Amino acid sequence: MKITIIGTGYVGLTTAVVLSYLNHDVTAVDKDKHKLSLLHEGKSPIHEPGIQSLLDEVCHTIRFTPSVAEVVPDAELIMIAVGTPPKKNGEADTRHVEEAAREIAEVCHPNRHYTLVIKSTVPIGTNKRVAQVVDTVFEERGIQGNISVTSNPEFLQEGLALQGAFYPDRIVVGANNVNAFDALRHLYQPILEQTFDPPTFLPRPAAYHLPPMMTTDPNSAEMIKYAANTFLALKISFINEIAGLCEDVGADVTEVARGIGLDSRIGPRFLRAGLGWGGSCYPKDTAALLGVAAQAGYEMPITEAARTVNFEQRKRIVEKLRYVLKTLKGKTIGILGLAFKPNTDDVREAPSLDIIRQLVAEGVNVRAHDPIAMPNAQQALSEITIEYCEDVYSVSHNADALLLITEWELYHRMDLRKLAKQMKTPILIDGRNVFSPQDAMDAGFHYIGVGR
Ligand code: UDX
Repeated sequence: MKITIIGTGYVGLTTAVVLSYLNHDVTAVDKDKHKLSLLHEGKSPIHEPGIQSLLDEVCHTIRFTPSVAEVVPDAELIMIAVGTPPKKNGEADTRHVEEAAREIAEVCHPNRHYTLVIKSTVPIGTNKRVAQVVDTVFEERGIQGNISVTSNPEFLQEGLALQGAFYPDRIVVGANNVNAFDALRHLYQPILEQTFDPPTFLPRPAAYHLPPMMTTDPNSAEMIKYAANTFLALKISFINEIAGLCEDVGADVTEVARGIGLDSRIGPRFLRAGLGWGGSCYPKDTAALLGVAAQAGYEMPITEAARTVNFEQRKRIVEKLRYVLKTLKGKTIGILGLAFKPNTDDVREAPSLDIIRQLVAEGVNVRAHDPIAMPNAQQALSEITIEYCEDVYSVSHNADALLLITEWELYHRMDLRKLAKQMKTPILIDGRNVFSPQDAMDAGFHYIGVGR
């Protein structure tokens, strides 16, 4: 199929390279000159495992351009994958989605049918607004255009984006007409039937079953995205709430999570207690859902509570440091991990940013390490001065405490004995319960985890 994708962020670029790998004829549009020049050189502007290798494989067929007018008229299917940043009141700003829809409607042929797919995460009802934008432009042009607006939410997990795209749990499509469902079924056929040869670096998981394509109405599809993210966010907040009580009563939350996760109604995933969620989705999407609810005059106390618990985790960890160090002012604390989760350079809404700001405000000398997110963190924290270290051993040298914030694989393999020896006081606060308390204590650390 001839496809145009508007936006080359995490969602747009991943979708573009995957669809190109599946032999669709893909052009991606982005107005950002820096991103485009990297893409024209065949370089990925985002850090995501496997994306560069896949881009190398499809570089002779995929195209990138700044111009909607150049590519939309000949496309069969157009996807909007632009950002929906939060407004001041938390609601998602759909301005870029509507702008893209307007630009598309301005250039499409009057006598051709197009499927317009909204992939961006958008408030419930956006599909109708986009259809109105399109109709208004057609009226202005005095033409009878033919665009089916479809909602196809993306469940991309950063760090696992390609895995999720090739081997999804499900594909959700919301539309009001059967042609749109057929177009999306055709688009995703190689994935729905798993007829493609997997990339060498991403074999098909052994127990993988063919994914269902769930068809529904557009409002429900938009709601599914928010409800899925909010449910996962509150699952994590729930285990973090239990973790706090575990600390008070002497239980171990990792054991509790194992015990409840074995109940198939609960399931073991997303029950890792720690510093809670950050990233571009859960903070923004839970706020946006509350915005949708506020507009409807509906209260969502569970979602509110999930947010409160999540952001409290960042304060509680600073209190743990204060408790163990007695006073924070003048102390040197080493931070391990800045990205909001491992395998990404993304620091949006990362717990590290809030925690570092709190520590600096208390007069702490902060040293930080991250294998790839340091440049992004430096930018996000440009208002404060901290020391960025190229390796974990310089972070710990003569430090009063170490605080692990992101569970990068390389931290699992650190030589704890060596670290403990070179610290002023060997205190390890494990914000993600990465280490076995016994191993850390055997290495000479005073160990404090979350909920254990
Ligand atoms: C999420 C959803 O998983 C994805 O489907 C949606 O499209 C976008 O939002 P992402 O934000 O990339 O994806 O990351 P995810 O792996 O879901 O983790 C989000 C946050 O939760 C991270 O900060 C992670 O550290 C935290 N987390 C996750 C926990 O604290 N405990 C867990 O058990 C799992």
